[in-house]
Order: sequence, then structure tokens, then C-alpha cells
Amino acid sequence: MLDSVVLSCSLLGLFLHVVEFTDGGITSSFVRSVDYSLDMPLNSDVFRPPPGYNAPQQVHITQGDHEGRGLIVSWVTPDSPGSNTVYYWVEGSKKKKYVEGIVLTYKYFRYTSGYIHHCTLKNLEFDTTYYYQLGLGDGNFSRTFTFTTPPSPGPDVPYTFGIIGDLGQTFDSNRTLAHYQKNPAKGQTLLFVGDLSYADNYPFHDNVRWDTWGRFTEGSAAYQPWIWTAGNHELDFAPHLGEHKPFIPYKSRYHVPFEASGSTSPLWYSIKRASAYIIVMSSYSAFGKYTPQYEWLEKEWAKVNRTQTPWLLVLMHCPLYNSYADTYMEGETMRVMYEPWFVEHKVDVVFAGHVHAYERSERASNIAYNITNGLCDPIKDESAPIYVTIGDGGNLEGLVTEMTEPQPTYSAYREASFGHGIFDIKNRTHAFFSWHRNEDGYAIVADSKWLLNRFWKPSEVPPLASA
Ligand SMILES: [Fe+2]
Repeated sequence: MLDSVVLSCSLLGLFLHVVEFTDGGITSSFVRSVDYSLDMPLNSDVFRPPPGYNAPQQVHITQGDHEGRGLIVSWVTPDSPGSNTVYYWVEGSKKKKYVEGIVLTYKYFRYTSGYIHHCTLKNLEFDTTYYYQLGLGDGNFSRTFTFTTPPSPGPDVPYTFGIIGDLGQTFDSNRTLAHYQKNPAKGQTLLFVGDLSYADNYPFHDNVRWDTWGRFTEGSAAYQPWIWTAGNHELDFAPHLGEHKPFIPYKSRYHVPFEASGSTSPLWYSIKRASAYIIVMSSYSAFGKYTPQYEWLEKEWAKVNRTQTPWLLVLMHCPLYNSYADTYMEGETMRVMYEPWFVEHKVDVVFAGHVHAYERSERASNIAYNITNGLCDPIKDESAPIYVTIGDGGNLEGLVTEMTEPQPTYSAYREASFGHGIFDIKNRTHAFFSWHRNEDGYAIVADSKWLLNRFWKPSEVPPLASA
């Protein structure tokens, strides 16, 4: 009996240690280890090139069309152009198909890239596992990988997305990626919310760090699509180095299917994947009225069919709601422009990065304000998205820990720890979002929320009993 009382008191103490209640939601007082985020040295095993002369490296895949039957395969050959061909076949079949891609190089200040290949596989079967082979014809140094296409878009198709942002290439980045890969929730596609390599933090934006990042992420990105969003660290805008055009390394290395959604830029586009419709926006491109991004998004809403793809997700880099002190209000201009559309069209979740910490909002909106009416506080709004800030991948700039106090009422949970998210769609009405901090075991959920689809379950009903 005494033991159980002691245990109960201990658990209560632990609980009180972990959370404290403020005016808003929960601000976790979990204290992570104090190790500073250091980039992994260049000779780290995760950066090691594959063996063999000119072997394909930095392999990554992303969706290659609007529906999910296309796949863009990208890779780098360091020494010579080599083969541009991707051979691919259905698991268990001996019948190989092949398709020819393109190759390009770019220069950045004194850096010249390797040979960057992009190849689009089209008309793949839905829900099918394929193998693909690169480098055939270049001697014996070909490499083979595998991927699985999504199910055909449909309202009750279960599908699991991982979410990572601001990853960089530190020891913490390595932990984040390893935890994502080992999470038993098994993300099938990764939604990456911007800020990839952080090469621009090096003298002269050392683009060698783009190459190391490509090799570091290959272990996941060669086997499941990473859906790319551009962040501020993709700008690489450096007039003092003679680099006057933004996004050159990023746009050279990471191709996306923007034309399939009628976009005129790879920085904003949309895809359907299983039961989700995903809109990718660019925080660092013009987005005011009459700009190409605005005009594209204005037409985009009518294309979303919630009967086919019930879950409407938006990815962007800079969050619209953020109660950390760092980057405070940076997303405000975009919020003023686009939040009314998000509410009107019942976006389910907006995922963003940029802030190196984690935060999840309540369903709230701040669209009533018109400068003169004084209605400038966010209010509870069942048509509004949940905003998830998840720029806690682990880059060399470290965590943001300073928060605005008191916690705003729209903020449901916030914590300054590195980690990743999982968005697990069960059917047209229910999805389970979880956030996993790196300090915990692979299967442990640090924060979670059952989400009711805004189109199919616009009013609150009791959530399912468990995940
Ligand atoms: Fe950022």
C-alpha cells in the first residue's frame, strides 16, 4: 500500500514537472540534454560516398505528377555525366522498363556541382512496390533501391505521412532522421517543411554541404518520397558573392512536379496523395495580390475535391502562428493574406518549420480584424486549421527556447525539443497526429491530437478511444 502511495506521488510529481498550465495550453518544461548542435564532421559515416568510380549518390525521390502515379528520381554522379537512365520493375517481376532523364550542373561562387540527374517515371501502378536501378552502363557501380507507390486517391484510404523541418546535418539531425526511420508508426511519405542543408551558414555558402546533406538523407529519401518545401536557407541569395538569383542550388537539386498543378514555379505546387490534397507554398516568394503565387492559389481551391481527398494540408516554411520569441510575427503578412482562404476552404492542418522548436495550435482564426474594429485577438474557430510548427529537425543553429508569456490561448502545446511528427490518416473523418521528441524511445508520443476532418466532421464529436 505504501509503495503504491509513493508511486502515485512520484507519478504526480513527474506530471507536475512535465507540464505547467498557463493562460493558453501546455508549455512543457521537459529539459533536453544541453549538448549544443554541432554539424557532423565531413568524414562522418553518414556522409560517405558509395563505393565505386562515379557511383550514383545523393539519391532522392519525390512525387512526379499530380495523382501519385509519377515519381521523380534524382541523383548525382560526381566525376562524369554517366548514365541518365533509370531501370525499374515491379517487385517479383523480371520485366524491366527504363526511362531516360536529364542531367545538369550549376556553379555557385567557386563551387561547381557534380552531374545532377532528374528522371520522371510515369504511369506507375498504384499501391505497388517497385525496384529501380541507377548507373547501369557505368561499369559495375550501379545501385538499386525500392519504393512503394501510394494507393489511388480515395476518401477512406489510410496513409501515413512523416513531418520534418529545418533538418540540417548535426548529430541532432542524425538522431531526428534515425528516430523517424525507426518509428513503428512508419511514415510512408515525408512532408519536409523547408530548410534543408544549412550550407549557407558556411563561408561562401559552401555547397559541399549540399552534397553531404544529400548523402546523409539518402537512407530515407531514396526509398520514400520527400515532399519538398523551400525555406529561407534555400535562398542562397548572395550578391556579395556574385550570386544574384535566389534558390539556384535548391532548384537545381530538388525537382518537384509543379507544372502538373498548373504552377509556374517549383516553389509552390500541389499534389494528391492517397486521401490527402497537399498544397505547398513559398514563404520567400512574392505572395501579395496579383503575384503568380497568389493567382495560382486562388484557382487551386476549386480543384480540391474533399470527396476524393478529404484531408487538405498546407505546407509552408514560416509559421503563421508562433508564440516563440524568435521569428515572432515573421509570418504575419502571409497570415493576413491567406488565413481567410484557409478558413473558408476548411484546411485541416498547416505544417510549418522555421522556428526551431515544436508548437501545436488550437483551431483558431484571426480574420475579423479590419484595422478599425479592434477585433485583433485570435478566437476559437472550428473552420480554422490546426497550425503545427515543427522546425525542430536539429540544425546547427540550435533550439529556440524563449517563449512569449503568457502562452496565448490559441497555443495548445509547445516545447523546445528536437523531434519529428507523424500524421496518420485513418479514414475520411479521423487522423491521428503525434509528435516524437528525440530524447524518447522510437515509439513514444510526446504530444498528440486526434483530428476530425473539417469537411466531413465539422462539429466536435468524441474522438476515438485510442491511437
Ligand atoms: Fe528557416
